[in-house]
Amino acid sequence: MIAVVPDTDATFASILRRRAVRVNAALDRMLPEANAAPQRLHAAMRHAVLGEGKRIRPQLVYAAGVACGAREDALDAPAVAVELVHAYSLIHDDLPAMDDDSLRRGRPTVHVAFDEATAILAGDALQALAFEVLTGAGGDADLRIELVATLACASGTAGMCGGQALDIAATGRIQSLHELERMHVLKTGALFRAAVRMGALCAHADATTLQRLDDFAQAFGLAFQIRDDILDVEGDPAQLGKTAGKDAAQSKSTYPALLGLDGSRQFLDELAHRMRDALEPLGDASAQLLALGEMAVIRDR
Ligand code: IPE
Ligand code: IPE
Ligand code: MG
Ligand code: MG
Ligand code: MG
Repeated sequence: MIAVVPDTDATFASILRRRAVRVNAALDRMLPEANAAPQRLHAAMRHAVLGEGKRIRPQLVYAAGVACGAREDALDAPAVAVELVHAYSLIHDDLPAMDDDSLRRGRPTVHVAFDEATAILAGDALQALAFEVLTGAGGDADLRIELVATLACASGTAGMCGGQALDIAATGRIQSLHELERMHVLKTGALFRAAVRMGALCAHADATTLQRLDDFAQAFGLAFQIRDDILDVEGDPAQLGKTAGKDAAQSKSTYPALLGLDGSRQFLDELAHRMRDALEPLGDASAQLLALGEMAVIRDR
């Protein structure tokens, strides 16, 4: 007989591992089979999604949802959907017309492993699949509409795509701190905010709780991209699974470029405080979210 260990007794690391296995299995199920036509497109989608991603956005969906009282099985659809949009954003971010990267999640990028047209289409199809998955989520129709609206808003011009456009426009020029923050908040922060909000919506969290979680998610998103920028300067490509040093080589607008490494680290400390302050009123229920926030500022990959 298998002993069932309640989450309260399990270590956080084992909870993260279990949820990663859970979302990976759900992603595998939702993606089209590689041997179904058009095979090349399906193989590219699977290559992008089923690699060694950290699955931070799904982890935030689960941690926020569970903090507000949802069951994990009610959170699988938004966890899968946000990871699909993220994977699509990475495929397009790596394209020659954008960051022109050849390594992602320890493997060749999609346009290198396949070809550019297939990479563009794989990104498009992953985005469409994300919304299809949300329409099939459990719960009532109002909840599903709210999940779709949340992810759509975070993916579009007021979110990830808008931020990526600002990134491209700022390449090669120095931005003000305010512009830089706006760019990071959109290109990376918006999907994290959506992940946290979707988890909480699935638990029918009240407006005050949604606001506290959003304060946490805003700080988390900004911190995550600043840490990404720091790792681009001093990270180990073998551990990162992607090329380092490319932001400076491509004259990208980043926190280390504007504030230096020490200034960027100081700002990360401040954001860690902001995350703690936002979650404090939620007490023990938010412990998993807080632990994810702590990981985001010290991570090496
Ligand atoms: C990389 O995101 C792109 C950014 C928004 C900084 P992650 O660091 O979450 O990438 P994976 O999913 O683990 O590959
Ligand atoms: C990517 O930011 C953000 C999105 C994919 C939306 P980066 O360009 O810094 O991400 P990496 O460093 O290539 O993962
Ligand atoms: Mg980029
Ligand atoms: Mg990039
Ligand atoms: Mg980067």
